[in-house]
Amino acid sequence: MKKRIAVFVSGTGSNFKAILEKTEAGDINAEIVLVVSSNPTAGALSIAENSQIKTHVINFKDKSKINSEYVIVSDLLTVLNIDYIVLAGYIKILPAFFVKKYLGRMINIHPSLIPKFSGVGYYGHKVHESVLAARENESGCTVHFVDEGVDTGEIIMQAIVPVFGDDTPDTLAARVLIEEHKILPLALKKLCAD
Ligand code: GAR
Repeated sequence: MKKRIAVFVSGTGSNFKAILEKTEAGDINAEIVLVVSSNPTAGALSIAENSQIKTHVINFKDKSKINSEYVIVSDLLTVLNIDYIVLAGYIKILPAFFVKKYLGRMINIHPSLIPKFSGVGYYGHKVHESVLAARENESGCTVHFVDEGVDTGEIIMQAIVPVFGDDTPDTLAARVLIEEHKILPLALKKLCAD
């Protein structure tokens, strides 16, 4: 039986697209049945809609209601019988009850070689800016299980890229993203085969 996947996004959705293509091609024993977004204008939402995948946008406007927003998402995931969650460019911190429910069943892609440049405050371009400021010779990306910490869960896969002297955050991000699009589908394939 194909594993049922929910993908959480906040932006462009290129990692979501990478796993969508592999699931649609039958390369991964999985079907993406839901896309949850923290951002109503995320590009990932139109990718999902074009593939007739159900979408749900979390409302972050009223801070006092965020926990109940996650209860709604959690109930939706239960109704849809979700096996695994993939955080693919999801930049919000999840509440503890939610992480607990999906412990061992939720993975995240992070654009650095964890433990370097990871944790609170390190997301998206901020990571690449920090890598360049620290004059690192190499960077990369990591797929890991999500636990109660921020970017602290067990590592599943990493890929390394060189950092060049004339890199900008954009050029480095683009080089890392190419590797993200390889290791995220591979990690999901491994997870869904077990
Ligand atoms: C990716 O580089 C991903 O690793 C990063 O956001 C980008 C999303 O791109 N995630 C984080 O920084 C999480 N801490 P995408 O929307 O095109 O997949």
